[in-house]
Amino acid sequence: MLVILPYHHESVEVYRHILNDEEVRFYFDPLLEHHPESGQHSARVLMGCIDLGYSLGYGDDDVLMMGQSGLLHDIGKVGVAVEILDKDSALDEYEMQDVRRHSRIAFNSLKDFSDSRVRKVVVACHEFTDNPYPRDPRKTSDFDDRRSDDPDLTIPKHVLATVDMFDSLTHPRSYKPPLSLRTSKRIIAEEFTANSVFADMLSDGLRLAMVA
Ligand SMILES: [Fe+2]
Repeated sequence: MLVILPYHHESVEVYRHILNDEEVRFYFDPLLEHHPESGQHSARVLMGCIDLGYSLGYGDDDVLMMGQSGLLHDIGKVGVAVEILDKDSALDEYEMQDVRRHSRIAFNSLKDFSDSRVRKVVVACHEFTDNPYPRDPRKTSDFDDRRSDDPDLTIPKHVLATVDMFDSLTHPRSYKPPLSLRTSKRIIAEEFTANSVFADMLSDGLRLAMVA
């Protein structure tokens, strides 16, 4: 499996700071308990978002927000049954609908989070496809604010989508083995609908390590 090694010396400090933050842990710990694999994935996404944030020239405050978004992006999976998260074959239509609820659950549960940008970035990491669930065009009034076109959040949203997909491909899931860097890059090139500039930066520019 490939993991991202911190390229910037500040990254480790921010990583520790976020993981030790009481408010963040209040939201993150239930996921870690419910589905440890998703928790570990989220911790790796945290590091990737921080490091890519610094590589893009963001300052500490923005990088902190990007890291928090990375760690919390899957917290809505506490509302999805473990049997579905661990299923080793294709999900049926109802199971898929259940999994897709996780973005909405996360957005709602983060409504009191101290940095209001985080919930917007968290919910946006699925919006780069033709069918950007959980946005429901029939219910715009409920969900308008989470789809705000805040230009300051455009890059953080792409960064989270990039790191999330990269980690998901290069690590094992119940339904697939870890994929090589070469295969992951090919899939990202073919299927990734966020800005591929960040995917290229992540796979080519950052330090990667092979772990067992
Ligand atoms: Fe994820």
